[in-house]
Amino acid sequence: MASGQLSRAEALACSGFRHACHVMLYSDTKTQLFGRFPIRHIILMQMRFDGLLGFPGGLVNPSEETLEEGLSRELLEELGVALPISVEDHVDSCYAPASPSSSSSSSSRLITHFYVKKMEEEQIKEVERAAASSATDHGQEVLGMVRVPLYTMKGGGGLAPFLSHCFIGNARSQLVDSLLRFNLVAPEELHKALTHSLTKHT
Ligand code: GTP
Ligand code: MN
Ligand code: MN
Ligand code: MN
Ligand code: MN
Repeated sequence: MASGQLSRAEALACSGFRHACHVMLYSDTKTQLFGRFPIRHIILMQMRFDGLLGFPGGLVNPSEETLEEGLSRELLEELGVALPISVEDHVDSCYAPASPSSSSSSSSRLITHFYVKKMEEEQIKEVERAAASSATDHGQEVLGMVRVPLYTMKGGGGLAPFLSHCFIGNARSQLVDSLLRFNLVAPEELHKALTHSLTKHT
């Protein structure tokens, strides 16, 4: 495990920490953009109220609910659907770096837990519809769900400019690590996109 990373059990044994759980929901798809670029997978992220991109999920209180129950509750609020999340969907847990925006004296440090769940394409499209219509947080804490473009177009459009947006916490590395771990983008393509995402887009 990389430094800063904890197992689920180690993380739960840390006292005096707040806990947050987020999930990357994804599916396979045969859809092609403009009939030419296979989009290959549907991966859901969200535009948050603070203008940052992140994954659906939120703060969980382990003294009242399990991490997975808390994550399901957040998904109901943010996506408008009850999605069971299981311990097997857990990928990793880590200490969140102290954020400069939160007053460090009053708020305790945070541990973030990350999950990945593969779904059927029809299920994930249903999640998108519910998120835009019945989710209580829609238009408030969540400004909208977005799909992650995994392709690279001539001229560089696609994954590279997406990765140059601003992300909450370590959501960007959670995304990049998952693309590799679950074989959603070829390593050399991902490497190119990461390099291009660091250069200016005009
Ligand atoms: P409230 O109901 O307003 O409390 O929001 P919430 O429960 O939905 O919490 P939120 O999703 O904002 O997550 C809580 C904290 O976790 C945030 O303040 C961030 O520091 C962090 N966070 C949010 N989204 C992500 C994410 O996608 N990845 C990671 N690593 N951290 C995140
Ligand atoms: Mn929430
Ligand atoms: Mn949230
Ligand atoms: Mn919440
Ligand atoms: Mn809330």
